[in-house]
Amino acid sequence: MYGRRKRDRVLTALWGVGILFGGLASASRWSPARVTPVQRTITAVVTARELLSPDVVALTFADPDGGLLPSWTPGAHIDVRLPSGRRRQYSLCGPPGRRTDYRIAVRRIADGGGGSIEIHDTVDVGDTLAFEGPRNAFYLVTDEQDVLFVIGGIGVTPILPMIRLAHQHAINWRAVYAGRSRDYMPLLDEVVAVAPDRVTVWADDERGRIPTAADLLADAGPATAVYVCGPSGMLESVRAERDKHADAPLHYERFGPPPVVDGVPFELELARSQRVLRVPANRSALDVLLDHNPATAYSCRQGFCGTCKVTVLAGEVDRRGRAAEGEDEMLVCVSRANSGRVVIDA
Ligand code: FES
Repeated sequence: MYGRRKRDRVLTALWGVGILFGGLASASRWSPARVTPVQRTITAVVTARELLSPDVVALTFADPDGGLLPSWTPGAHIDVRLPSGRRRQYSLCGPPGRRTDYRIAVRRIADGGGGSIEIHDTVDVGDTLAFEGPRNAFYLVTDEQDVLFVIGGIGVTPILPMIRLAHQHAINWRAVYAGRSRDYMPLLDEVVAVAPDRVTVWADDERGRIPTAADLLADAGPATAVYVCGPSGMLESVRAERDKHADAPLHYERFGPPPVVDGVPFELELARSQRVLRVPANRSALDVLLDHNPATAYSCRQGFCGTCKVTVLAGEVDRRGRAAEGEDEMLVCVSRANSGRVVIDA
């Protein structure tokens, strides 16, 4: 979900030794301020619920006894434990560092894993919410003085507190916020309110088309630090465009799983149920497992939270996760096999 493009090659190597959404992208030449991740489960009570757009609900929650919640920095996320047992990660989008309460915003995804629907349909004011964190792997580097924020839809959630922090630090920032229409651009009013002359709004229905990467990066010079958060298509196009400037810093947070790169088909044998599933070259093992069993545990789908980890009983694993993967473990959301069959304890 997170990354720094210029570190990708280094990180790819480092991820294999387990540096990582709980420490992800922690190898950085920018030495950002860090907040120690909170590992314990915290229970909070929902104090406000607001529909930000037709498909996005914001929840505010606080310590039930009025205490302070753990410290956090813009870009941080929490792992929410839903009553069903699902775990989902949401960025904190309230005022930077605010500890009297937290705010998250959740887009309803009709064909997702059910977590967003559960929140939309069942969580209300007065309910309790259990979470772990915050953790941050998408932090603002405050010594970067020329910054462009690129926002796509619900990708606004980590970016909004970053913008506020950048403004507090007198960073020369601009932002471009893209969405299909203003009605479907949650928190747009709050982004614009920080500094209206620094924000470009790209509503597709007003402009008559979706933006190209060049449109989104129109305000970025070769040395501008770009922070992008939004759909995979937007992220990939911005990354490709920024690759034309070899030294341009790029920070990103990805919603949804990354595309499978250099995948080959393999078989996944489920030892307990004695089933063999074929994993195609362009799908993850997790996707195939979810077809087989929709209750399969997962959260980030990007190899850093560890939720999908399974025990491997036989076979060679091509480990691609950033969370630690032991010799007999596999993060099925990203790791795969180069050929043949992997037998897992499932
Ligand atoms: S779902 Fe997070 S590591 Fe696989």
